Amino acid sequence: MKSPQLYLLGVLCAGSLSSCVSLETAAPPVATIASPTQTSYTHLNSGREIYVGKCTKCHSAEIIVKHSLDDWKGDIMPTMSKKAKLSPAEEASVMAYVNAVIKGSGSTQPTKI
Ligand code: HEC
Repeated sequence: MKSPQLYLLGVLCAGSLSSCVSLETAAPPVATIASPTQTSYTHLNSGREIYVGKCTKCHSAEIIVKHSLDDWKGDIMPTMSKKAKLSPAEEASVMAYVNAVIKGSGSTQPTKI
């Protein structure tokens, strides 16, 4: 059975073969990387919402695991958070989410893109 999400992906990918990657791969849902019982769950969720919302205004969702944690902390977040005009709290949420994705991404990490 074809899920509506897969169908949508097919439509989105039709014109851009090179950048065809699902949002679930680029920015895995928090449920795949953390347990709902974790105290940080809500914090991580708001980080992902900002990521797929404010961070996709100029480009599509970047594949988080394509960049190292050092790059995210030292370069990407300081630059992009200014571009997206994030508050320090929002930046902290996104960084916590990115950190969780990279550290807990065992099964969601794409093999090679
Ligand atoms: C105002 C437009 C804009 C917004 C908003 C924006 N970006 Fe970007 N982003 C860019 C541009 C332009 C580039 C490519 C040029 C560059 O690297 O500076 C880029 C590149 C990137 C890259 C690739 C960097 C690399 O070294 O390959 C990542 C990752 C990224 N953005 C993440 C984010 C995140 C996370 C957010 C939200 C906090 C965000 N972007 C919001 C414009 C934006």
